[in-house]
Amino acid sequence: MEDTKYILEAKGIDKSFSGVTVLKGAELCIIPGELHALMGENGAGKSTLMKIIMGIYTKDAGTVTLDGKDTDFKSARDALDAGISMIHQELSPIPEMTVAENVFLGREQKKFKGLPFVDKKELNRMTQELLEEFGLSEFIKPDMKMKDLNIAQIQMMEIIKAISYNSKVVIMDEPTSSLSEKETETLFRIIANLKEKKIGIIYISHRMEEVFELSDRVSVLRDGQFIGCVNTKEASREELINMMVGRELEGGYPHNTAEKGDVVLELKNFTRKGVFENVNLSVHAGEILGMAGLVGAGRSEVMRALVGYDHLDSGEIILEGKNITIKHPKDAVRNHIIMASEDRKELGLVLCRSIKENVSLQNFDKLANASFINKGTERKLADDYTKQMATKMNGIEDMVSSLSGGNQQKVVLAKCLLSDPKVLIMDEPTRGIDVGAKAAIYNIMIELAKRGIAIIMISSELPELIGMSDRVMVMSGGKVTGVLEGEEAASQQKIMNLAFGGK
Ligand SMILES: Nc1ncnc2c1ncn2[C@@H]1O[C@H](COP(=O)(O)OP(=O)(O)OP(=O)(O)O)[C@@H](O)[C@H]1O
Ligand SMILES: [Mg+2]
Repeated sequence: MEDTKYILEAKGIDKSFSGVTVLKGAELCIIPGELHALMGENGAGKSTLMKIIMGIYTKDAGTVTLDGKDTDFKSARDALDAGISMIHQELSPIPEMTVAENVFLGREQKKFKGLPFVDKKELNRMTQELLEEFGLSEFIKPDMKMKDLNIAQIQMMEIIKAISYNSKVVIMDEPTSSLSEKETETLFRIIANLKEKKIGIIYISHRMEEVFELSDRVSVLRDGQFIGCVNTKEASREELINMMVGRELEGGYPHNTAEKGDVVLELKNFTRKGVFENVNLSVHAGEILGMAGLVGAGRSEVMRALVGYDHLDSGEIILEGKNITIKHPKDAVRNHIIMASEDRKELGLVLCRSIKENVSLQNFDKLANASFINKGTERKLADDYTKQMATKMNGIEDMVSSLSGGNQQKVVLAKCLLSDPKVLIMDEPTRGIDVGAKAAIYNIMIELAKRGIAIIMISSELPELIGMSDRVMVMSGGKVTGVLEGEEAASQQKIMNLAFGGK
């Protein structure tokens, strides 16, 4: 037999969790120096396959070879030692650890053979070097606690950590999902560098543009089965969607035909020093207001302050014509102002509880001391919403931790929808969501608008923002640089101009 040209090869992989088949004959082969995209709907089995390659899960059948040799990793440690590292989709840093401790977690002993304790200074020095190399030293310091980093910074640290192992294969499971443009650029530079070094990259993403820009080949999984592998150059968007979903999808965005009512919410002179300044906005019943801007423009920050996650220096909140005060998230819930945060865990998804318990209004009741909907209706709605979004689960008694990343996001949305909002703030609602389920979420948004709910949507995907919004408000550097309506709101160029602070 001739020598294999593959650096990594997984073949005939089967896996089931307590009797439920998740992978059936999955395969993937990686050439040195290629970026190999792995695509598939939420719950198709992408992350599971990666965890099998990494030795985190054991496979029921199949083989994984690295450099032509069978692997049988018992843990991620083994995989790392053999030359495979992974950036995980679900980030879960230990909050009290410092940045440096996090990067070198589990490696201290190796680097400092013979020393009875870890040399903190040396760890910090090496981390500082990495931060400088990747242009992050301005914002992140080695001795900062992980809990003080924002989600983009945490993701960036995970990327750096994975790279610092000097592996032969690097697995990236939705690495850009919480990165800003600037950080994404840094990642793309890192990727180019890895490819030059003939490292194989497995890249999982739901973002079609990214896949076409970066990848050499694409493999597709559907329901745990290998559907095919194509050269990116020869593939079309439609072909990939067809491979993933097994049918054609209607393109485009549904039109918001809801009747626009009175102003529901108005913010006046919202200011948080150093973050955003004198932000004014209003949103009507039945309206979808899009918030555009580069990540870091302050959009999420304004909304977080509105719902009481963050402190506000000054500003007024007027709900249905009355001034209200929000000092704590529970005040927002009591006033039916609900935010689906971009950070699933922050919003209060309790991973070790069932979907039902998570979606349950109990969580909100505890906060708000008020019951909006009776139990029967609640259960039915929970069922309806999760089904509409095609949440892949066995039932709403499943643990949230057993759901794929995208499916967890759907639970977050279901929970918010059930809380009877007057104002619904959706921060990156389709992040990590597959193409098919995105359409379901858009339809739900229209349905809510028709019920008279005012929706504020933050999205870094401009086509989505333009497609769904009645008006688009643009922020740059903590200030509102424009509010676009009608045709203007559909101009990508006008929006980008304002996003870069232009006139
Ligand atoms: N530990 C587990 N216990 C039970 N079921 C699990 C477990 N991990 C994953 N699953 C199930 O396996 C299926 C595949 O999940 P996986 O996380 O691999 O999907 P994915 O392709 O990565 O999806 P996404 O795009 O949403 O991240 C899902 O139906 C999920 O619920
Ligand atoms: Mg996944």
